Amino acid sequence: MLPNTLFMGQQLFFLPVCESTNSEAQQLLIKNKATEGCVVLTDEQTRGRGQRGNSWEAAPGKNITLSVILSPVFLAVRHQFHLNMAVSLAVLDLLREQGLAQAQVKWPNDLYFEDKKLGGILIENTVNSQSIQHSIVGIGLNINQLHFGISTATSVAAVVGTQLDVKRLVARLLELLEKRYLELRSGKVDKLKYEYLQALYRYQEQHAFEVDGKQVAGRIAGVDEDGRLAVEIDGELRYFAFKEIAYVI
Ligand code: BTN
Repeated sequence: MLPNTLFMGQQLFFLPVCESTNSEAQQLLIKNKATEGCVVLTDEQTRGRGQRGNSWEAAPGKNITLSVILSPVFLAVRHQFHLNMAVSLAVLDLLREQGLAQAQVKWPNDLYFEDKKLGGILIENTVNSQSIQHSIVGIGLNINQLHFGISTATSVAAVVGTQLDVKRLVARLLELLEKRYLELRSGKVDKLKYEYLQALYRYQEQHAFEVDGKQVAGRIAGVDEDGRLAVEIDGELRYFAFKEIAYVI
């Protein structure tokens, strides 16, 4: 099913099985075979990659597993996180259309429903001294899988109670992704940031975090221009990069 888009997904490579769609997308870029919005879609990854060097596991044929190649040359390197916000919101738009009104984004870009993970995003950028040249946006979203190896994972089908048409959802996701990407490209960063914060998991709530190997209580106060998480701890506002803070469930 082709998406109704200008460029997102108009070039699409479907691989029944591959190691990782992000790695396949990387190869397309190296071989100069990709135009902006090019998608690598698979039913099964044998070496799916997640953030923090983790692997990404998903049951074959039941979920959305794809990578999109973008050229956000309009984005300064220090504003990389703006793309994370736009992509997170596009996935959230899809989840909300499917009836998951309570879906949220767990900083920086995990998709959550209540306290369980529905999906994740792995963005790999190629940068020069000033701007981003290419971004490989990898999206893994649990759709029809009902059994997981870990108790902290869930899927759209597990929440809504029915199986969904994955191909139709892929097409719709690409439409929503194009819409959010065009917002980013036309400079609507304040709007994206506002919506991102409205959807942020545990925003403004007091919770436990792990910082420097110690447990601390803090309140998420926002996200700065560099995408660092702003957390108020003991009355002081502190900013954390991705690996400097962890949520304590
Ligand atoms: C995370 O939550 O750690 C990010 C997971 C990202 C998984 C997707 S699945 C499609 C793309 N290809 C990969 O190897 N990883 C991403």
